[in-house]
Amino acid sequence: MRKNKETWWKEAVVYQIYPRSFMDSNGDGIGDLQGIIHSLDYLADLGVDVIWLSPIYDSPNDDNGYDIRDYQRIMKEFGTMDDFDMLLEQAHQKGLKIMMDLVVNHTSDEHEWFVKSRQNTDNPYRDYYIWREGKKSGLEPNNWESCFSGSAWQYDETREMFYLHLFSKKQPDLNWENSRVRHAVYDMMRWWCDKGIDGFRMDVINMISKDEELPDGKNINGLFGDFSPYVMNGPKVHEFLREMHDEVLSHYDLMTVGETPNVTTEEAKKYAGEETNELNMIFQFEHVEFGGEIGKWTDKKIPLVELKRIMSKWQTELEGHAWNSLYWNNHDQPRAVSRFGDDRPQYREISAKMLATCLHFMKGTPYIYQGEELGMTNYPFSQIDQFKDIESINAYKEIVGNQRLEHDQMMSCLRFKSRDNARTPMQWSNNKQGGFTTGKPWLPVNPNKDEVNAEVEVNNPNSVYHYYKKIIQLRKKHSIIVYGDYELLEERHEQLFVYRRCLENEHLLVLCNFSDEVIKYKMPMQLEQYDVIITNNQRKVLESEMELQPYEAFVIKY
Ligand code: GLC
Ligand code: CA
Repeated sequence: MRKNKETWWKEAVVYQIYPRSFMDSNGDGIGDLQGIIHSLDYLADLGVDVIWLSPIYDSPNDDNGYDIRDYQRIMKEFGTMDDFDMLLEQAHQKGLKIMMDLVVNHTSDEHEWFVKSRQNTDNPYRDYYIWREGKKSGLEPNNWESCFSGSAWQYDETREMFYLHLFSKKQPDLNWENSRVRHAVYDMMRWWCDKGIDGFRMDVINMISKDEELPDGKNINGLFGDFSPYVMNGPKVHEFLREMHDEVLSHYDLMTVGETPNVTTEEAKKYAGEETNELNMIFQFEHVEFGGEIGKWTDKKIPLVELKRIMSKWQTELEGHAWNSLYWNNHDQPRAVSRFGDDRPQYREISAKMLATCLHFMKGTPYIYQGEELGMTNYPFSQIDQFKDIESINAYKEIVGNQRLEHDQMMSCLRFKSRDNARTPMQWSNNKQGGFTTGKPWLPVNPNKDEVNAEVEVNNPNSVYHYYKKIIQLRKKHSIIVYGDYELLEERHEQLFVYRRCLENEHLLVLCNFSDEVIKYKMPMQLEQYDVIITNNQRKVLESEMELQPYEAFVIKY
């Protein structure tokens, strides 16, 4: 029986663009909207349905656009509002939808609201942000640590109070308790919807409601406390999202996805429940946060048994209640093939295809991050001054500065997990600078651009690119890929990820070897009639006892 209502956003495949690193049209080394417009045919050919644009709004770029100065202007490096209108129109003509990043937990400290709010305690914007007196001793109001290291409070000389910033001190948190703030946000959202955009990806949306007592957090590192219990999935978050739904979302045909660190499946059912009128789906974090030793930092891969446990928990616990999103990477995470696959040259392509198979046949809406469809890898960072990302730079200073890790250990963690791995330029060709720019790129191009690039891969039918294209086509052809139930097999197997999907009388068996070893495997069932619908290793027939090649993956329908 089909339990899930059929909707376009369940059947869609999303492609995330990080505009700064996608395509530079004017040689200043920074990607821009005209660059995206020139690349629309590439995306239409790949077959994706929705483009999620990381923020393109006016911003001083303390956190690459996640610090917004004006929600209704375009960042000047990226172009103008006319460029945006042209992008929206041309995308729609090619059947592509546009999902905007909505960053409303915080603004830039250069946003007009904050500029006014900080002036004094007697102006209409005074309660737009979270202001507090310091403790008697002049210390911060509480011990919370910011996500980007250091205290989450900044003293403001003009207003003579502290303001809360869960991210950088140039990203003050908005005060969602203030209904004028909420309605100003809804007005802004309606303005974009009326332009004809197709959805919102909502930045850290589960952090907008704070426990008003702002209690000290459990000490995490001898210096600061953890804000999570008082901020993540806070007391009024569902009330606020239902209000946003009534005020804005319910009036348009949108796709909405909430970015929700520290979310549980129970909370997810509220955010993304079929009947709860909040969001369509959320991004859970368990598979990407696993194993952090100091905060998020580690240089170790997640054991496959844990990965299967986490992914399968989300598959089965949301079944019939809420919809999943599916992702291996994004602009905040390292490259999928380097993290979950194997980026050594002999295994890069096959393991990238294996990962695509494993993810896209699960139940949920898949998200591809730019360059993932080429099997782009982490960058070989060797020095700390190569990083541009505020999170990486601050974490290095804090962790190495306080001797919690040696330089070499922290570099190894950064190489494995830094967000800059995802942010090096998209590799379009083997030209100078990978065809991304004719100038000097803001982050260096990965030295493997001669082998890993769109031009080479579009022309090679066996490339990672063509494998993604095929997977996307299969999704359009077999509704079992979208709507079938999920069942994990071989739960304890340490190298193989095997699962089954079921819809009425149809079945899929998905088998992925996550190791560089040949694995002997006995099929869990005897099959007489079946089709191999995709394989990364030319497998045509199944033997009852098989030798699975390193990183082999295939899907059979029976
Ligand atoms: C989200 C974004 C990330 C940003 C942070 C603060 O996690 O994905 O890039 O730094 O929010 O806006
Ligand atoms: Ca440019």
